[in-house]
Amino acid sequence: MSRKTVIVANFKLNLLAEEAKNYTLELIEALRSEPSETTVVIAPVYTAIPAVSGALDGAHIALAAQDIAAQVSGAFTGEVSAPFLLEFGCRYVIVGHSERRRLFGENDEIVAKKARAAVDGGLIPIVCVGETLEERERGEAESVVETQLRAVLDHCPEGSEIVTAYEPVWAIGTGKTASVEDAEKMHRFIRTVLGSERGDNTSILYGGSVNADTAPALLSSADIDGALVGGASLKVASFLPIIRAAAK
Ligand code: 13P
Repeated sequence: MSRKTVIVANFKLNLLAEEAKNYTLELIEALRSEPSETTVVIAPVYTAIPAVSGALDGAHIALAAQDIAAQVSGAFTGEVSAPFLLEFGCRYVIVGHSERRRLFGENDEIVAKKARAAVDGGLIPIVCVGETLEERERGEAESVVETQLRAVLDHCPEGSEIVTAYEPVWAIGTGKTASVEDAEKMHRFIRTVLGSERGDNTSILYGGSVNADTAPALLSSADIDGALVGGASLKVASFLPIIRAAAK
């Protein structure tokens, strides 16, 4: 385990199965001529996972789910857990996205249980943390991020592979990106919270209005190990320049 460069396409609630499949085939084709060390990950809607999985057919692109149940199986209507994601070749799962926290009431305890369920189930959680604009203005950005992260670290055994994503809530879908300096500062802080061993082995991604224009400066930073991309990931043409920017 070591720090990898990881670029994740989070489709959120976009792209039907057929669209996601065509996207995947187009991305595979585009990447064929430019092999790189970067781990590229696609996180489609649950219902598109089988189609994307089929299209991947051994390609060097990893599959992720956007969420996971804290439970494994049983009477949990509407949930999808690790074995069901593994069945279709998922390797990663996003947990604690701010949209889940804000719109669906997920608190630190739920996020921590989901991260643990991912680890126990053989998936790598992409743990999202980030402060709101009000919290930043009150000078609480670091304490908020630390609390969110510690909840997960306390639940996941030392040595379990996780990826962290710093996504300031005010930068998501707003066209406002954190400055490289602010992002770097938070990434360095996150690395100290992770502790020396975990910090050396955990990729810390930045997310929030990453696009072809903002990616090069962000991804050239030694503290920023990759990106979690929403809007700009929905078209291969706008996602590719971000993957290329990561090839540092
Ligand atoms: P945008 O790239 O659309 O700002 O979304 C970021 C995000 O939430 C990725 O998970």
